[in-house]
Amino acid sequence: MTGAAGAALCGALGAGATKAARAVPALPDAVPFGAAVRPMLLGDDADYSAAVRRHCSLLVPEGGLKWFDLRPTPTVYNFDLADRVMRFAADSNMGVRGHTLVWHGAMPEWTSEITSTARAETEMRTHIETIMGRYGSQIESWDVVNEPISTDFSKSDYLQPCVWLHTMGEDYIEQALRTARAISPTAQLVVNEYGIEAANAESVRKRAALLKLLRRLKERGAPFDAVGLQCHLHGERPIDRDGLAAFLSELAAMKLDVLVTELDVIDDKLPGDFATRDAAIAGRVDELLETLFAVQRPTAILTWGISDRHTWVPMYFKRGDGTRNRPLPLDENYQPKPMLRVIERYCRR
Ligand code: G3I
Repeated sequence: MTGAAGAALCGALGAGATKAARAVPALPDAVPFGAAVRPMLLGDDADYSAAVRRHCSLLVPEGGLKWFDLRPTPTVYNFDLADRVMRFAADSNMGVRGHTLVWHGAMPEWTSEITSTARAETEMRTHIETIMGRYGSQIESWDVVNEPISTDFSKSDYLQPCVWLHTMGEDYIEQALRTARAISPTAQLVVNEYGIEAANAESVRKRAALLKLLRRLKERGAPFDAVGLQCHLHGERPIDRDGLAAFLSELAAMKLDVLVTELDVIDDKLPGDFATRDAAIAGRVDELLETLFAVQRPTAILTWGISDRHTWVPMYFKRGDGTRNRPLPLDENYQPKPMLRVIERYCRR
């Protein structure tokens, strides 16, 4: 995607947005494309900012809207990083996704003091009200609850242990959603999860556990609109086409939208040769999106970064051959790779 054409192609309206159209009209059926951005690079790194503007019509802060960034102490809010993203998005005519209001991760040390139900309910409600109150006019789609499903099935086959679960029980998820809906009647409220797409035992278990949660939330009338599939794919792991299609059909039956929220392809186990690796990565993304679009069109597709120059992947999946990971649509010099062409093709569908 390039420039205004790119924005027009992908729809300049944010995911789930139904509010005032922006300058660049969205094509009626395009799927908005965007990326996670690092606040400190926006404005400071001209090449980075130009690449984001060139290819994206939608942003999500990689950092800046997490408790760790926002809440240095129980009484102090630090909006600096998030404000940078919001200013850039407004100046660039882009939508913004909010990531994330309630999560077990990126929590500041002081939140370990939250031990009572009453304190937890107050802290969660106040946080959501404050953040949505400040950014709600610009953010039209929120990861209200991120990664609620257990990451270690030897400890729990259902919900991820965290301060919210320990103090409020499973209700924390419904309470977070109800608080968000009370603040914004129109925002797209999303439950966001990873590890859903693969043909392995972990993904089978996570799909089952997430469906259990979603059904319970629906039975209770909890207000939410969509499921975010993070899609941190592993290059060596096939997509479970049948399992994922069946999962997506269950979402459609529950009248839940779906969006791809954090797409990248972890390539530590792929061959070192760039052409071979990039082709395998593009093939994995094609497999995912073909399976997804066969069941329901996502309301947005976002990658977790735009360029290999800035990605979380080597934090945990550094390559043994010492070459840079290549998980994203642009290489470290902001040049398009086959992965971007695959995404473009589906955005046009
Ligand atoms: O900003 C500080 C810096 O001042 C300090 O010197 C440095 C040294 O520790 O840390 C910096 O903060 C780091 C932050 O990223 C900004 O770079 C944190 O330590 C580090 O934990 C944090 O990692 C982020 C992680 O979420 C935890 O918040 C990754 O960048 C980010 O890509 C990752 O994103 C998550 C999604 O939110 C949820 N889905 C999975 C995805 C990948 O793990």
